[in-house]
Amino acid sequence: MKANIVTLPGDGIGPEVIDGAIQVMRAVAEKYGHEFTFEEHLLGGCSIDKYGVSLTDETLAACQASDAVLLGAVGGPKWDDPNAKERPEKGLLGLRKGLQAYANIRPVRPNANLLDASPLRPERLEGVDMVVVRELTGGIYFGEPKEKGMVDGKEYSFDTMHYWDWEVDRIVRLAFDIARGRKKHLISIDKANVLEVSRLWRRTVEKVAQDYPDCTYEHLLVDAAAMHLITKPAYFDVAVTGNMFGDIITDEASVLTGSMGNLPSASLGDGTGIYEPIHGSAPDIAGEGIANPIGMILSAAMMLRHSFNLETEAAAVEAAVDGTIGAGVRTLDLNWGKPGSVGTREMAHEIVSRL
Ligand code: IPM
Ligand code: MN
Repeated sequence: MKANIVTLPGDGIGPEVIDGAIQVMRAVAEKYGHEFTFEEHLLGGCSIDKYGVSLTDETLAACQASDAVLLGAVGGPKWDDPNAKERPEKGLLGLRKGLQAYANIRPVRPNANLLDASPLRPERLEGVDMVVVRELTGGIYFGEPKEKGMVDGKEYSFDTMHYWDWEVDRIVRLAFDIARGRKKHLISIDKANVLEVSRLWRRTVEKVAQDYPDCTYEHLLVDAAAMHLITKPAYFDVAVTGNMFGDIITDEASVLTGSMGNLPSASLGDGTGIYEPIHGSAPDIAGEGIANPIGMILSAAMMLRHSFNLETEAAAVEAAVDGTIGAGVRTLDLNWGKPGSVGTREMAHEIVSRL
């Protein structure tokens, strides 16, 4: 097959890790006879530096016209001024919205050879294999109004957590579809004991569930979910939640795999799919060549699977990652400071060599 991929390396470690994913995609193209072309654009802080905005119309149009988008990470201290008009994250949110990528799929599957890298005891990690479905284009990230102001010399600000029933409906349906292909049990995470918007979420889950009589479901409050993720992570199979709760609990869930650097994601919806690791730009280690590229490389595998329907190729990339970890190859984040860690390039090379 032929595919045109837009790459958005972004900021910090983004360019370092995306490099590994591109190498993997090239190796897959060669081995399986596909033709992938890569077109690089700026997103985030680097785009602010060059164009004054974090996402230009041209970049968004290129993404919309492409077959898939591969994204590194955005942000960094250079653009962190709280009074700045334009922030790198704005470009990322604009991209998600612009591509109508409302469903962020984040699989969490600890590798049996990496259990020692997790802060949890290995026996707690037995059987952990979950998918978190995070709503990505609504909720408090996008709700209007957002405001800051001053009254009687006192500063205030607020954001709005807003969901339409149809936004909840479509993400819950997608999560049930995933659950159907797995253990047929869906956990919906909310804060319905406090938030009106969560009560709408709950009602909608209950409505949609009627179309999935073959599946069971339950509601879990987000604070309890955060605890259960640590005390009984294997209990989770498919979970669905709103934008902000999903952001928070997937960082938490990622450490079950040993490092947040391992976790990939796919952002899917009505337009082009976006594939990005869940980690950020890690400015503290940017430029050192030590970042873990696995989350980025597994995101490329998700691209092969979800945008190109190349299951064999996707599974081959995942097997190459597993094989590399199995052989004891570790980046610093997986090695707990022990000697013998490899750099970003070496890790990517080890994975490519096992394809
Ligand atoms: C993520 C990130 C982003 C988010 C930031 C960079 C805006 O944390 O993809 O999880 O909050 O969605
Ligand atoms: Mn996040």
